[in-house]
Amino acid sequence: MSIILKTPEEIEKMRIAGRLGAEVLEMIAQYVIPGVTTEELDSRCHEFMLNQQKTIPAPLNYHGFPKSICTSVNHQVCHGIPSHKKLKKGDIVNIDVTVIKDEYHGDTSEMFAVGETSILAKRLIDCTQKALYLGISMVKPGIKLGDIGHAIQTFVERKRYSIVREYCGHGIGRVFHEEPQVLHYGKAGTGITLEEGMTFTIEPMVNAGKRHVKVLPDEWTVVTKDRSLSAQFEHTLAVTSTGFEIFTVRNNETIEPTYILPEHFQA
Ligand code: MF3
Ligand code: CO
Ligand code: CO
Repeated sequence: MSIILKTPEEIEKMRIAGRLGAEVLEMIAQYVIPGVTTEELDSRCHEFMLNQQKTIPAPLNYHGFPKSICTSVNHQVCHGIPSHKKLKKGDIVNIDVTVIKDEYHGDTSEMFAVGETSILAKRLIDCTQKALYLGISMVKPGIKLGDIGHAIQTFVERKRYSIVREYCGHGIGRVFHEEPQVLHYGKAGTGITLEEGMTFTIEPMVNAGKRHVKVLPDEWTVVTKDRSLSAQFEHTLAVTSTGFEIFTVRNNETIEPTYILPEHFQA
C-alpha cells in the first residue's frame, strides 16, 4: 500500500467531484433551520445527488452506514446518523457530504448553526474553520504532514480547545479512504513529504472540552466523553507544483490567500 499520485486527468475528475460535493452543502444550507429533522436533510441531499447531480452518495452502505450523509449535532463529533430527531434553535450541526462522480470522490463538511446560537459555539466553529484553513495554507511540495498536524494542534490548543486524535484526514481519489492518514496533531518535521499530485482531505475535529471520544451503541456516532460541543470542517484538496488547490470550496466561502497565511492567525 502506498500513496497514489494523480495524473492531470484524474485531478480534473476530482475537481468535478469536489465541486459537486460543495454544491450539495450549498443546496442544503437553506434547510438547516429549527424543526427540521436530520433525516429530512439526508433525504434532500440523497435526492439531489441521485436525481440532479447523478452522483453516488459514498457513505450509503459504506461499511454498513445506513444513510447518504453524516449529521453530527452538538456533542456528536462525527459519523452521526440522520434520524427523526428535530434540530432546535441553538444547536450546531456538521453535515458531511461525500459524492462519487465518474469513479472519483469529493469529501467535504461544514458546520451550521441552527438559528441563533451561543457565543461559545460560534467561537468553537470559527476556530475549527480557521484551523482547517491554516492547515490547507501550509500545503505545498516539500512540507511534511507532521508540520501541518503540529500547526493545527498548536493553533487549537492555544485557544484551550482540544483536537480529536482517533479520526483523521485521508488520501482520497478512486478510493474513499486511502493513504496517507492526515493527522490533525503531531510533531513538526515528521511524517511523509508532500509531492505534487497527492490528493487528500484535511478535516479537524475540535472539542470545546477534553479531546476524548467514544462511539455510541449504534456503532457509528462518535461523541465527546465529557459531552462538550464539537465542531469539524473538511475540504478535499490537491498538492500542486506551487501549493494547493481546494476542490470542495463553496461559493459563499471567502478564503483570501493572505487570510490563510499562518502569520495571519493570532492564537
Ligand atoms: N465523510 C467521512 C470522512 O470525512 C466518512 C464518513 S464514513 C460513513 O471521512 F460511513 F460514516 F459515512
Ligand atoms: Co473525509
Ligand atoms: Co467527510
